[in-house]
Amino acid sequence: MAQIIDGKLVSSKIKEEIKLEIKNIKKSGGQIPGLAVVIVGDDPASKVYVRNKRKDCEEVGMYSEEYALPENTSQEEALELVKKLNDKSDIHGILVQSPLPKHIDENLIVENISPSKDVDAFHPQNVGRITIGRYSFLPCTPAGVMELLKYYNIDPCGKECVVVGRSNIVGKPQALMLLQANGTVTICHSKTVGLGNITKRADILVAAIGKRNIITADMVKEGAVVIDVGMNKKDDGKLCGDVDFAEVEKIASYITPVPGGVGPMTRTMLLKNTLTAAKMGK
Ligand code: GUN
Repeated sequence: MAQIIDGKLVSSKIKEEIKLEIKNIKKSGGQIPGLAVVIVGDDPASKVYVRNKRKDCEEVGMYSEEYALPENTSQEEALELVKKLNDKSDIHGILVQSPLPKHIDENLIVENISPSKDVDAFHPQNVGRITIGRYSFLPCTPAGVMELLKYYNIDPCGKECVVVGRSNIVGKPQALMLLQANGTVTICHSKTVGLGNITKRADILVAAIGKRNIITADMVKEGAVVIDVGMNKKDDGKLCGDVDFAEVEKIASYITPVPGGVGPMTRTMLLKNTLTAAKMGK
C-alpha cells in the first residue's frame, strides 16, 4: 500500500514558517505583505476560492484586500483596477480570479499585472523566466507539487516523470519544474495515443487533466509516485481527482489524496509568493 502524501500537514508546516517570517517583519517595523484578490461576477466556486484566500492571509498575519466586481464590469474598468493595484504600495501581490466573464480578455488582464506583483506567475515575462530557470515566482499548484516531493525526499533527478495535462497553469510549468530538477520529462494530453503505455513508464506521475478516474491501476508502474492534481466532482457532489485512488493506492509507493493532497499546497504557495513579492519590493 502506498504512503499517503499529506498535503495538509506539509502546507501547515510551510504556513508556520511564513507566519513566523511575517511576525519578524512586523517586529522589525517592516511592511506587512499584502495580497489583493480581484473577482468579477458570481461564479460560486470562485467565491469559495477567494474566501479561502482571505482566510489563509488572516491565518498567517498577511494583509489582504478583496475587490468583488459585478458581472457587467467592463474590460476597461477591470484594467483600471489592475493598474491602480500595481501602484498601491501596501499591495505586493495581485491575483485576478479566473474565470473572468467572457467579455473580458483574461490574457490582457494578466499582461497588465506588474510582473513583480504577479503572484500567480501567469504573466508572459514570468512564464519566460521559468523557462530559462531565472524566476522569482512559480505558479502555485506545480510549485506545491515540488514542495510535496521535497518534503517526502522524492528527488526527480534521473527519474522518468510523466505529466498528464498541458495547461498553462499546471501541466506546462510542472513539466518545466521537473525538468529543472533533472527529471526526464514527458508531457501527455488529450490527444496522446496510447496514454497508458506512457504513464506506465513513470517513476513520478502527475495527473492534471481534469477527468475523473482517467488514471487507472493498469496505467501505473509498481512503486510509482502518483500526484493527483485533479479537482473533479463525484455524482454525490464530493471532490475527487483524476486518479482511481482505491486501486492505484495498492501499487504506488506514494500517492496524494483528493482532497487533502495538492489542494492545500496551492493555497499555501500563494502566501509564499506574496511574501516573496513583499521581500522583493523592499
Ligand atoms: N482559478 C482557479 N485556479 C486559479 C489560480 O490558480 N489563479 C487564478 N487567478 N484563478 C484561478
